[in-house]
Amino acid sequence: MTGFRDGYGIVVIGGGAGIGQAAADHLAARGASITVVDRDESAAQRCAERIRAAGGKAIGLVGDVTHAPSVRAALDASIAWNGRIHALVNTAGVQGPLGRPSHEVSVEEFESTLRVNLTAGLVIARELIPHLLHHGYGRIVHLASIAGKEGNPNMVAYSASKAGLIGMVKAQGKEYAGTGITVNAIAPAVIRTRFLDGQPAEVVDYMVQKIPMGRVGTVEEVAALIAFVVSESCSFTTGFTFDLSGGRATY
Ligand SMILES: NC(=O)c1ccc[n+]([C@@H]2O[C@H](COP(=O)([O-])OP(=O)(O)OC[C@H]3O[C@@H](n4cnc5c(N)ncnc54)[C@H](O)[C@@H]3O)[C@@H](O)[C@H]2O)c1
Repeated sequence: MTGFRDGYGIVVIGGGAGIGQAAADHLAARGASITVVDRDESAAQRCAERIRAAGGKAIGLVGDVTHAPSVRAALDASIAWNGRIHALVNTAGVQGPLGRPSHEVSVEEFESTLRVNLTAGLVIARELIPHLLHHGYGRIVHLASIAGKEGNPNMVAYSASKAGLIGMVKAQGKEYAGTGITVNAIAPAVIRTRFLDGQPAEVVDYMVQKIPMGRVGTVEEVAALIAFVVSESCSFTTGFTFDLSGGRATY
């Protein structure tokens, strides 16, 4: 794809590692001004430093998607630095309780997973959308998961949170459809990141054997799709969840 025009500001929340980090690198290499936000401040700053060392434009900031004032502060700092935010990529996510059926999962564990993976979508909308409405343009993309479409056993909090996120994106896409703002999601199957290292081997095997391509995806493949979804070229799609599953989900 072609590059972003000068000054195209993209905030990557969760950009300190994994998919978010790869997306930040990829978007910066295509000319966007990147604000890397992560609850791990040093990881965000390391990512921004690496981008600058490669000749790109980036700042790194601390920010926690579960805490609205922290999101607000990061967005304000991004606008103060770049003048404007055109797009936001939300890759902040947690796995929540793993390897246990629903009756062994506490309500507290369930709700704390939802706060990061689902409620953050509302926090981000509340804090960012007034700015995007003011400019009559914006792109928001959230990382959902195939677990939200199909439901992975023994990952009830994760599956429910990602299903909720897909529903939120459908609603928000319609809410802002006439404003120049699009809200979409991406639902990957298994992608090679440290996220995967935390999974029991049988869970990884379960997920890979369901992928017709017979392999896990790469962060570069996710970053390439993110770059399209946050670009001006992706102008007639909103409320949609893009597939990235090696043929597993064909709907
Ligand atoms: N890796 C996969 O196989 C896979 C598959 C489907 C969906 N996803 C989704 O993609 C997203 C990124 O996954 P990843 O594999 O890159 O994970 P990762 O753990 O490598 O990176 C996630 C980043 O989010 C940050 N983060 C976590 N909670 C945060 C919070 N409250 N506020 C701000 N930052 C926070 C972490 O510090 C980390 O830097 C997640 O939403 C995940 O659910 C991943």
